[in-house]
Amino acid sequence: RRVGVLISGSGTNLQALIDSTNGVNNNCSSEIVLVISNKAGVQGIERAQKAGIQTQVINHKEFGSREEFDMEVDRCLRKAGVEIVCLAGFMRILSGEFVRKWRGHMLNIHPSLLPAFKGHNAHEQVIAARVRISGCTVHFLEEEVDAGAIVVQESVPVYPRDTVASLAERVKTVEHKAFPLALELVASGQATLKEGVIDWSQ
Ligand code: GRF
Repeated sequence: RRVGVLISGSGTNLQALIDSTNGVNNNCSSEIVLVISNKAGVQGIERAQKAGIQTQVINHKEFGSREEFDMEVDRCLRKAGVEIVCLAGFMRILSGEFVRKWRGHMLNIHPSLLPAFKGHNAHEQVIAARVRISGCTVHFLEEEVDAGAIVVQESVPVYPRDTVASLAERVKTVEHKAFPLALELVASGQATLKEGVIDWSQ
């Protein structure tokens, strides 16, 4: 399957996806063919270039509306023949129309065990709630933020002295396993979205 990855930053999840898909002698079901960032000069772009993957910066500030930006992203993905979209630290909310177009073919990673701690400041919420376990969730994208059917989750402990930075770092170690696994499950057809829930083939 041809995969497009949308990023906004350092791209450590992108790197994990690159390592699991685009390596030589790799018999996995997908290949990353395009990386799009809404920010120029981010490390994720460098990671993609180093791996020989086509990159594109689409600066959201150059568009009059969310819908126009999304339409340009959609156009580039389709031009590259992308079949599955992975949101790997992409910090923009996508419009309803875009989400509907890619429904069942778009995965997002969120740094908490959903449905707990939705939103952009998940680690702050986890620490404030003093829970003892957190983790990450890879899910299909729905119009409602952080709400789609869950493909993979992985947990980590939360320690009393954790800061946002120390917790984020621990969560990222499991994100880097969970995202490649989820992508493989979807790209291989083992997990498909049917009427809002996952149909697990065998
Ligand atoms: C990850 O923690 C992801 O869950 C969140 O943003 C972070 C992106 O990190 N949405 P990176 O750019 O993949 O290093």
